[in-house]
Amino acid sequence: MTPVPAQHSRVLSGMRPTGKLHLGHYHGVLENWVELQHEYECYFFVADWHALTTHYDDPSIISESVWDMVIDWLAAGVNPGEARLFIQSRVPEHAELHLLLSMITPLGWLERVPSYKDQQEKLKERDLATYGFLGYPLLQSADILIYKAGQVPVGEDQVAHVELTREVARRFNHLYGREAGFEEKAIQAIKKMGKKTARLYEQYRKAYQEQGDHEALAAARALLESQQNINMGDRERLFGYLEGGGRIILPEPQPLLTKAPKMPGLDGQKMSKSYGNTIALRDQPEDIEKTLRTMPTDTSRVRRNDPGDPEKCPVWQWHEVYSDDDVKNWVQTGCRSAGIGCVECKQPVIDAVLREIKPIQERAQEYIEQPELVRSIIAEGSEAARDLARATLDEVRHAMSLNYR
Ligand code: TRP
Ligand code: SF4
Repeated sequence: MTPVPAQHSRVLSGMRPTGKLHLGHYHGVLENWVELQHEYECYFFVADWHALTTHYDDPSIISESVWDMVIDWLAAGVNPGEARLFIQSRVPEHAELHLLLSMITPLGWLERVPSYKDQQEKLKERDLATYGFLGYPLLQSADILIYKAGQVPVGEDQVAHVELTREVARRFNHLYGREAGFEEKAIQAIKKMGKKTARLYEQYRKAYQEQGDHEALAAARALLESQQNINMGDRERLFGYLEGGGRIILPEPQPLLTKAPKMPGLDGQKMSKSYGNTIALRDQPEDIEKTLRTMPTDTSRVRRNDPGDPEKCPVWQWHEVYSDDDVKNWVQTGCRSAGIGCVECKQPVIDAVLREIKPIQERAQEYIEQPELVRSIIAEGSEAARDLARATLDEVRHAMSLNYR
């Protein structure tokens, strides 16, 4: 396998602290993070400033949710030994990059991001006609670009934000990556790598530019990444020269779509706080049991001996998430023949949810009892994040001629 350069294997994602995490977060996001942390260099953060764009009139929910959210991440298996965990506002560099990027971002790009109008429609009770809310996706771009993240695990609704990030990065590189004598400087830089490496680089570059060979591109990037003794400027030039343009200061990220099936809510719609159909990760087991026992079923199945149709029943969707083929067959046959009752049918789901949630709640309890440990995990993560963020911001300031301090 071709190794990918560090910046392309860096993964970054954030979550807004606006309430308790539920099973939808667990299956949709956290399980995915837990897997990614083994494979990539991961940065996961609490997007408290993003929460402020919609909750500026009631910020107490943010401060209430921040630590609980971090505890839920840890309880779900996000491991601070593998992934870096931090809070957005603890890395103020995000704000500076956001401001600098705002200078070059056309207003229309932000007005056209679908979530801008959608959310204003959906959240009618909130006043979202603010400067901050318009800038929401650009702040997200700054979050991503400041770490030169290559991959951004997000849901469908966030893909447009990653796309905007790519456009902003391209514009930035185009505006500030150009320099007089770029080609000559790139050629000088190639020579500096030594004969053998230079020849390889040239071969890869040719294969990519003439035949669009993406493996060659990846190989060339890996080659550059492994060069210890070229300086930052030359490195950016050589990355840029590969693809033909100028220096690449801010690399374009890719969205990494979560492949997990959508977690159904208690009513069969997507699980979401705004639909009031959730089970929170830290709900009491007795309450979870009660809630599942009373969740709606196929409404045409009024009496016990009426046959039902799993396709019209939210409980079936839960079986799709939690049950193996044997149980699923049992449901299909039993429901359609009225051979099983709905309470009976729910039992395997109840058992599976309680089994899943038990170790999560136990781990959560351990962290609840050690608030200083949670704070120090975040302090360490924020420091590590800040080191990277500072380095990128330095390059950005240089590129924008803001280095006259
Ligand atoms: N907007 C994201 C959401 O609502 C949260 C977020 C903020 C984010 N900054 C990010 C996600 C950067 C990925 C990368 O889910
Ligand atoms: Fe739903 Fe199961 Fe009842 Fe059928 S038996 S209606 S699938 S709960």
